[in-house]
Amino acid sequence: MRIPASYLVQFPEPGGYLDFARFGPPSFAVVDASTRLVEASAAAGPGTVDDLMRQEPRAKAAVARLCRTGADHVTLLPNTSTGLFQVALGVRGEVLVSAGEFPANTYPWARTPGVDVSWLPAGPVTADVVRAALTPGTAAVSVSAVDFRTGYRADLAALREVVGDRLLVVDGIQGFGVVDEPWEVADVLVVGGQKWLRAGWSTGFMTLSDRALDRLDPVLSGWTGAADPGLFDNAVHPVAEGAAGWSITNLSPIAAGALATALELVELAGVRNIYARIGARLDELADVVHAAGGDVVSAVDRRAGILAFTLPDRPPSEIGAALAQAGVTATVRCEHVRLSPHASTTPETVKRFAAALRGKTPDVGPVTSGVDESLPGDVDDFRRLLVERAVSSVGVPVELMKKSHKTRVVRLLDDAGLFLIRDSVDHLADALGVTRYTIYNYLNETRG
Ligand SMILES: Cc1ncc(COP(=O)(O)O)c(C=O)c1O
Repeated sequence: MRIPASYLVQFPEPGGYLDFARFGPPSFAVVDASTRLVEASAAAGPGTVDDLMRQEPRAKAAVARLCRTGADHVTLLPNTSTGLFQVALGVRGEVLVSAGEFPANTYPWARTPGVDVSWLPAGPVTADVVRAALTPGTAAVSVSAVDFRTGYRADLAALREVVGDRLLVVDGIQGFGVVDEPWEVADVLVVGGQKWLRAGWSTGFMTLSDRALDRLDPVLSGWTGAADPGLFDNAVHPVAEGAAGWSITNLSPIAAGALATALELVELAGVRNIYARIGARLDELADVVHAAGGDVVSAVDRRAGILAFTLPDRPPSEIGAALAQAGVTATVRCEHVRLSPHASTTPETVKRFAAALRGKTPDVGPVTSGVDESLPGDVDDFRRLLVERAVSSVGVPVELMKKSHKTRVVRLLDDAGLFLIRDSVDHLADALGVTRYTIYNYLNETRG
């Protein structure tokens, strides 16, 4: 299936942006959602806080759908580190972690008194490496789904088998929303939303399996993680059932709304469609590196969205300077340069990268995004794009839309002038799965 244009039109990042493994510029829908929620909070009245708090179940429901679990196994987080620290505080015994992990996945284990860390050698965390290191005292294995440095995509199903009944803790930030992994094999999956999910900073979530809920102690369970959190009776209540018991306090409802919107966009596009485009760009980037005599030093067979490379006789700092000069955003480390495209990355960005490696000024135009290939060519395309954009800015897939959502779509399109175009009522009725009379009714309502 092709990725919907309604997904691609959401992303305005400038051409040359190849740094999603560091930060993913959020979509229009996320910016809109965050702005609307901040505006609602600024105009707070009797129902505002309760209204805003409804973003939390919305975000949890989207996580649950994408992770194939229940919303009662999900808790929201402001970042990856908080989740991993919470888990580390709940574990007793030996934990296997690679010394090469991103530090968000080493400090929690190293700093927690009840944990005895056993460091795996830096390098791919394979089933064989883990099998060789397991001891009878191993309580948990913690691994990144995709390594931040080498781009290696861990074989989660194989790790699950080797780990057996011990806990498998997965830092999913570099893979979630990029590759469709068997997330349900993880006992704990922790994901920050600021990179590939494009939800902005201070967003994230954690899922906990039944095994994890049984075995881990939610040491940092706060007032929102207690049974009856709204009952202020001067008593300390028992920890709530399920992942709800892992809540320290409310995530900002603005962050929850941004996360929910970002996750619903991933659902709209489909992770496989997202990855098909990322994979195509990675292949093109690898061709450019090879044509320049360089080496791809990141994983090739088990990759996700990361490509790291070196060039002979050109230190990464020098390559980085040439890329920056050409308007290419990448991560430059002493050992290599890391590129990470997304589904919205265009072939023009690859051309810009190629020109930069050749030391040429790129001749590819100033700004591009995933949208250009779907820019309206004629009235039909234009109408289709307007409708898709309105649908995605409402942020709910059409099949799940209620009357209020559809009315909002109609209002947005009325403001955008859609109904000045011939046959638009029929087109929209088709797109929303209602009759033309319903569209007229909605129009009457919104025009007052
Ligand atoms: C594998 C991995 N985990 C976690 C993080 C970030 O952690 P946090 O969300 O706590 O900032 C990064 C950041 O680059 C990462 O690559």
